[in-house]
Amino acid sequence: MAEPVSVLFVCLGNICRSPMAEGVFRNLTNFGTSSQHPLIARIDSCGTGAYHAGDSPDPRTLSVLAANGLKDYRHKARKVRVPEDFAEFDYVIGMDADNVADLKSLGRRSKKVDADGWESKVRLFGEFGGKGTREEVDDPYYGGRDGFEIAYEQVKRCGEGLLKEIEERANAAK
Ligand code: 4NP
Repeated sequence: MAEPVSVLFVCLGNICRSPMAEGVFRNLTNFGTSSQHPLIARIDSCGTGAYHAGDSPDPRTLSVLAANGLKDYRHKARKVRVPEDFAEFDYVIGMDADNVADLKSLGRRSKKVDADGWESKVRLFGEFGGKGTREEVDDPYYGGRDGFEIAYEQVKRCGEGLLKEIEERANAAK
């Protein structure tokens, strides 16, 4: 049996996109239930910025999750921890290209991040979306609810793709 992996979803504020991704991925993997996916050890989310540290997800994120049957997701925003998050998580997944660039720059600037391996953990979520492009989950914060609905469709599709990759890697390692 392959070792279970840890997944960290990252956006800017950790109140809109990454908590939505976390809530959807928790649901997809039955996380915290008796039928939890055997290849998943830990799921969390954070932001590259600390503007909303300690805040609950944006009400529009919670509303779109609830509209899709996910009513009990709770989270408090936090900023990414360097180097700890790069050491503790196997996947550090940015929602857009800025998130990925910011994560890489934080890692490179930290003398404490282990030189080997961490950079390949930093991935763009859209890589798993099946569209064959560097799809980004755009920041919906300044727009209307429709932006959150678009983000939901993306994080669900990309989360399914990510889980498929995790399962395929585990099968290949058998
Ligand atoms: P998120 O959206 O990165 O998807 O959580 C944002 C939320 C708040 C801000 C920016 C993006 N802000 O600047 O306050």
